[in-house]
Amino acid sequence: MGRFRWGVLGTGPVSVKFAAGLRQIGAEVAMVVSRGERGPAFAHLFGGVVVEDYARAAAMAPGMVDAVYIATPPALHFDHAQAFLKAGVPVLIEKPIAASLAQAESLRDLARSKGVFAMEAMWTRFMPAITALRRMIDEGAIGELRMISASFGQAYRPDPAHGHFDPAQGGGALAQLGAYPLSLGQFLCGEAMAAKATGCLGPTGVDEDAAMALLYADGVIGSFQTSLRGTLRNSLTVTGTLGRIEIEGPIYRPWGLRVFSNPPVGRAQMDLTGKALFKEGPLFQRLSLFRARRARRGRVLSLPYAGNGYHYEAQEVQALVRAGALESATMPLDHSVALTALTQSLRHQIHGMAQS
Ligand SMILES: NC(=O)c1ccc[n+]([C@@H]2O[C@H](COP(=O)([O-])OP(=O)(O)OC[C@H]3O[C@@H](n4cnc5c(N)ncnc54)[C@H](OP(=O)(O)O)[C@@H]3O)[C@@H](O)[C@H]2O)c1
Repeated sequence: MGRFRWGVLGTGPVSVKFAAGLRQIGAEVAMVVSRGERGPAFAHLFGGVVVEDYARAAAMAPGMVDAVYIATPPALHFDHAQAFLKAGVPVLIEKPIAASLAQAESLRDLARSKGVFAMEAMWTRFMPAITALRRMIDEGAIGELRMISASFGQAYRPDPAHGHFDPAQGGGALAQLGAYPLSLGQFLCGEAMAAKATGCLGPTGVDEDAAMALLYADGVIGSFQTSLRGTLRNSLTVTGTLGRIEIEGPIYRPWGLRVFSNPPVGRAQMDLTGKALFKEGPLFQRLSLFRARRARRGRVLSLPYAGNGYHYEAQEVQALVRAGALESATMPLDHSVALTALTQSLRHQIHGMAQS
């Protein structure tokens, strides 16, 4: 079997990371689609034939590439993905998969009707720490799931030309950053049955800060925050009836898990004897403090990612395309559509608050 051949659309920072990740697995960049001077420089670094016309690239791709990675601004994902799907070329589409629910549904339906592989590039789902977290939850390591809390926020200088602040380019904290914790919530807890958001719009009209409360099946509760103006903890914690697991490292690049065992306790008993005095006395309290400090540290499982971590999602696509599969069970198109519906509804709530 020859090297897997990728077409890369766009030469922005994320395409550079993805192409660097491909080196990790010996995959080839066979085509670079770029409007301007970054195209040749990108091809010089990673290889590939430069195509300067995004519209023409889809017609050239069959036979030249095995799949394309679409890393253009979110407002362009729909047009670009549609063109390649119509040409029968498998697509890996950066998040958010599309700019609206109607577009996301249309891409899913087009991929299915054409019988062409498509997946949203939610790369964090494929990181070793997240794979292990999902397995541990499924195996009942923390009992019955009760809560998930996660955040992703980064302080950016408020520049209206920056894609994150530009509504025309699909900006906003929810779409650009909040999608990661919300998508992991979906991956670990299923689809949300109810969702409430509160947030603030910035001068360009995009949501800059948001906090969300979600309800999943079986009463599992999700609590999420995102921001373009403040750097948050960027963490993820899942809590069950027997303990909790926190990711080590930021949510976008976890390198391990910290596991805490917290079996349920019964009703507190306090007999009226000298034992009570001893337990509330300084010696026992100091011992309790020592135990509490140790318990706070938990047990760390080291699950580092290899390279820059971007190759895991590429490996998933390569294996599935080669096997003739049309979707990934880890990142199915129905999840992308449901997540688009969720973020759209949350965004509407925030815009509605700003108008009232
Ligand atoms: N996976 C991750 O870690 C991650 C992180 C951040 C963002 N993202 C997502 O990845 C995608 C790309 O992000 P990015 O920050 O690399 O994007 P970007 O810098 O805003 O744009 C990516 C590239 O798209 C091409 N492009 C084509 N038509 C364009 C147009 N009309 N206006 C602007 N650019 C155009 C440009 O390449 P040429 O000039 O060569 O044509 C540009 O460099 C987005 O969907 C974003 O949400 C993913």
